[in-house]
Amino acid sequence: MSLAVTGIGELVTNDPHLGIVHDAAIVVEGDRIAWIGPSSQAPAADSRLDADGAAVLPGFVDSHAHLIFAGDRAAEFGARMAGEAYTGGGIRTTVAATRAASDDDLRRNARRLVGEALRQGTTTIEIKSGYGLSVTEEARSLRLAAEIVEETTFLGAHVVPAEYAGRADDYVDLVRSEMLEAVTPYAKWVDVFCERGAFDADQARAILTAGAKRGLGLRLHANQLGPGPGVRLAVELGAASADHCTHLDDADVAALSGSDTVATLLPGAEFSTRSPYPDARRLLDAGVTVALATDCNPGSSYTSSMPFCIALAVREMRMTPAEAVFAATAGGAAALRRDDLGIVRVGARADLIVLDAPSHLHLAYRPGVPLIRTILHNGVPQ
Ligand code: NIG
Ligand code: FE
Repeated sequence: MSLAVTGIGELVTNDPHLGIVHDAAIVVEGDRIAWIGPSSQAPAADSRLDADGAAVLPGFVDSHAHLIFAGDRAAEFGARMAGEAYTGGGIRTTVAATRAASDDDLRRNARRLVGEALRQGTTTIEIKSGYGLSVTEEARSLRLAAEIVEETTFLGAHVVPAEYAGRADDYVDLVRSEMLEAVTPYAKWVDVFCERGAFDADQARAILTAGAKRGLGLRLHANQLGPGPGVRLAVELGAASADHCTHLDDADVAALSGSDTVATLLPGAEFSTRSPYPDARRLLDAGVTVALATDCNPGSSYTSSMPFCIALAVREMRMTPAEAVFAATAGGAAALRRDDLGIVRVGARADLIVLDAPSHLHLAYRPGVPLIRTILHNGVPQ
């Protein structure tokens, strides 16, 4: 089956040669893009979708989300907005709720959030574990995540669970041996929350290198709550992404700029923890590849909205609208080391969004407005 999307007023390709093109059309065959060119020359196809002058861009690639959990932490958010600080300690509240939930409850909640994200233009989303924190619970979280998405990440080292209080190194040993073995069939990536109060650089290195030996790709929660060794460790180990990057010194920026490690910025977390935003401008000016993601989780960032993150990045992080849209599409794909996503080129996956607007500028210009008119996911209109 083929589908021609015609009458595209502005096509954001993210292709270094094509850039943004006007009056364009795309032909999709099955789940792939088969042709791109001027709208007037679009070949015949089995069906047609008239964009009617609207902007079309690749679907958003949300490379950082924590969707296997139960319950919410609205009360914690309320307390924070009344002046309390975010410490990450609330993670244990969600661990208790998640352990008590059935497979069906966890599956239903994750599918609800994936659907919510899709309606806002997200056609790829990564899902991390990290609210199980035992061998069986982490394996369960990843088994459920792998039922739903392709990009799954083992975050057994999210915090030290209550039953290991005062025995962090014993927990690290469990994570890098038995737990890693139990999740490997379901996980593509391994991640560690490398932060004061969570795991230090030596602990993170031990877990990540054990994951790499089992063939998992590496990513790291780094420099979210304060300065620290996380970003440099991510670069040293060749991680695909260092996520958060809120507190960086010059050496961190230099390390990122000479590397293939993407800096994934998560402004929903700064919004929801009322913290200073990361300085995207400084990273972009240093030549670092920047991704934007939601960090959707019940504690520090309970949003599934990539348009909201784009608007925050433009308003609060000194990104241009074009840079923010690139970071939310091609940047996310780079953070997942995927060359078939986040780009409009022949052979790429036919994940596209048609905006209810003539230009990508409107995503930041009209914050909070539902601007996604039509979504093509794997070539299928949703
Ligand atoms: O990315 N930083 C650690 N993990 C999450 C927060 C999870 C939570 O508070 O439940 C984050 O912000
Ligand atoms: Fe996170």
